[in-house]
Amino acid sequence: MNYHNVEFERSFGTYSQLGRNDLPEIVFAGRSNVGKSSMINKLFNRKNLARVSAVPGKTATINFFRLENLRFVDLPGYGYAKVSKSEKRRWSELIGGYFADERDVALVFSLIDMRHPPTADDRQMVDFLIEHEFPFVCVLTKADKLGKTAREERLQKIRQELPCGDQLTLIPFSAETGEGVGEIRGILDEISQD
Ligand code: GTP
Ligand code: MG
Repeated sequence: MNYHNVEFERSFGTYSQLGRNDLPEIVFAGRSNVGKSSMINKLFNRKNLARVSAVPGKTATINFFRLENLRFVDLPGYGYAKVSKSEKRRWSELIGGYFADERDVALVFSLIDMRHPPTADDRQMVDFLIEHEFPFVCVLTKADKLGKTAREERLQKIRQELPCGDQLTLIPFSAETGEGVGEIRGILDEISQD
């Protein structure tokens, strides 16, 4: 795929507005601030394709991007404590509504901050993906922030901390250094050729 040709399609604030389910979709899911939008920008080599912010809760809508025969879906982050109850409900309806919509989900990137043990929300997300048989891989973000020893330790421990951890595909990733970009593009290229 020519990663430069990506285009922003649309944002959706409620799942009833979601557009047509006419292309295989690649989904970015993870807690607020984990680095979903940064990962999208890094994959496509763009600074501001998806909005990034140090303030969690930046992406409050579902954003669709299109590249060739694939659609890329930036979901709002889960697990952000500081938004209002009604906003939390809207988010969980949006995320839940997306997955309940029988869309053509080709792959979910389940993003988890590599520096810390997964949160209860992270484990729930992985449980959900396993239970509903969505194809997914776990992307361990902010890998650049760990030294060698801490990194090895987290890589081992996370397998015990996640449901079915020993069977999961784990990809360390950094939007700063570009670690993991090649591996992930390889996966995407394969999907786009199917
Ligand atoms: P929401 O839209 O709120 O759900 O957040 P998000 O998951 O889209 O996170 P976003 O990409 O906006 O990044 C959040 C913060 O983490 C920003 O300050 C980013 O610069 C930083 N960040 C993201 N990825 C990395 C990374 O790989 N390394 C480092 N060092 N910082 C990162
Ligand atoms: Mg975001």
